[in-house]
Amino acid sequence: MIGHTISLPDEKVLILDFGSQYTMLIARKIRELHVYAEIVPFDISMKEIREFNPSAIVLSGGPSSVYDTGAPMADRELFSLGKPILGICYGLYLVVEAFRGKIEGARSREYGRAVIEGSPSSLLFKGLKKKEIVWMSHGDKVVSLPAGFKVTASTENAEIAAIENKTQKIYGVQFHPEVHHTKNGKKVLKNYLFDICGIRPSWSMKSFIDSSVESIRKDVGDGTVLLGLSGGVDSSVTAALLHRAIGKRLYSVFVNNGVLRKDEHLKVIERFKKHMSLNLIYVDASRQFLGKLKGVENPEKKRRIIGREFISVFMKEAKKIGRFDFLAQGTLYPDVIESVSTKGPSDTIKSHHNRVPEVMKLIKSGKVIEPLKELFKDEVRVLGKLLGLPDELVYRQPFPGPGLAIRVIGDVTEKRLEILREADDILLQEIKNSGHYYKLWQIFAVFLPVKSVGVMGDKRTYENVIAVRGVTSVDAMTADWAYLPEDLLRRISGRIINEVKGVNRVVYDISSKPPSTIEWE
Ligand code: XMP
Repeated sequence: MIGHTISLPDEKVLILDFGSQYTMLIARKIRELHVYAEIVPFDISMKEIREFNPSAIVLSGGPSSVYDTGAPMADRELFSLGKPILGICYGLYLVVEAFRGKIEGARSREYGRAVIEGSPSSLLFKGLKKKEIVWMSHGDKVVSLPAGFKVTASTENAEIAAIENKTQKIYGVQFHPEVHHTKNGKKVLKNYLFDICGIRPSWSMKSFIDSSVESIRKDVGDGTVLLGLSGGVDSSVTAALLHRAIGKRLYSVFVNNGVLRKDEHLKVIERFKKHMSLNLIYVDASRQFLGKLKGVENPEKKRRIIGREFISVFMKEAKKIGRFDFLAQGTLYPDVIESVSTKGPSDTIKSHHNRVPEVMKLIKSGKVIEPLKELFKDEVRVLGKLLGLPDELVYRQPFPGPGLAIRVIGDVTEKRLEILREADDILLQEIKNSGHYYKLWQIFAVFLPVKSVGVMGDKRTYENVIAVRGVTSVDAMTADWAYLPEDLLRRISGRIINEVKGVNRVVYDISSKPPSTIEWE
């Protein structure tokens, strides 16, 4: 259970994670329905569950079979708490096992798309068609129904694909309502939350702002807060929220590391200092960073140098002001979930690894405020909009911390950066004008340290190459190179070659991830 930065709504859902790759999606889908949901490891204590006081419980899927040795099991007491329960996939098998039904490895497994026939008399399938397309991902099936339960849906391969005990409000489905491929999955979750559990939708970013501002004011009192502002979505929204709560007692330090995009520092200053009157401390440390990067070609070394210099500059500026009561960070919910599938329940929470001991020395209370700790990225964007931040910032594409230093391949010089900045700026102008910017995960220019021959007018040239990298992706784990219209590519290349001195060739990267990465370094 995470330490909350807000007072939670009265009605909320607890999701017990049994290791499914989709667990996080369950929470996101429930929150999209305006109900607060939180993920906890399956072996959380009954005491903690009672304290959280959920209005409903969801048991996630998982890769195990319930009869495997060492399979994660649900505490029997869970089923006598008197709370509504929905078991999804492996969660269904846990319900069946707890109430003494029987499960078997299925002979013909159902992975992927399946057609389900739900009973119209079950509230869970209210408003759905007789046959619905759903997504399955498990090899087991229920072969004997537990006492007190009724079958409410079946598929071609599984007669018992959904069950319910209406009196005890315990439900189970073999398919995954949380995934996009289950066409009306959201409706199933909606039926469960609103019709079966009687929850009212009360979770909204508007109510989050009120509750968050109130608790920040309470925690900070008349103290001061230090924040490192990078200009990215998370730190910008953190700044805007804290600014609303404590105004000038928030000190935001923005470091120009010399590897930002064209005019990026001016945009950040304009946005936060001029428009928002944020207490912004701007430091131009370009020379220091570029000095340290001189002659460095190894990308990991570049990253280390930039990280180290940032701490040193940030500390120096903060020390000029003095000590602070609190430090703020833009940590998001996916960073603090103790995920069973990726880390194992006993792992320490990731965000704690982000504490820099030197910086913590400047913080009197030794405490870190993470106001976005309960939120998913999509929610942070909505929050940013509500706090008055522009679309250009809230929906901007990810930009790596080491910035253009890893997009100038090899040695990072002022000259190369200048060329890259101009080329990248033209690329973004054209992409934004064409309406493609928000459809792509990322698109950017890369400076290649190779010279190629060209001809301009009557003269031969021997100049640099710019690579354009555009990808579509949902989470950056995998990515496809983006197909862009011919006339757009033609315009981009024409403008870069004509307008950026020192470039005579533009190439488009047509590699997917894997095996390539999104960045070139
Ligand atoms: P790759 O290149 O590994 O990138 O496919 C995946 C995503 O991570 C971003 N990226 C970084 N972000 N610091 C960051 O903050 C880094 O050192 C870094 N390296 C890659 C990249 O832009 C993409 O979104």
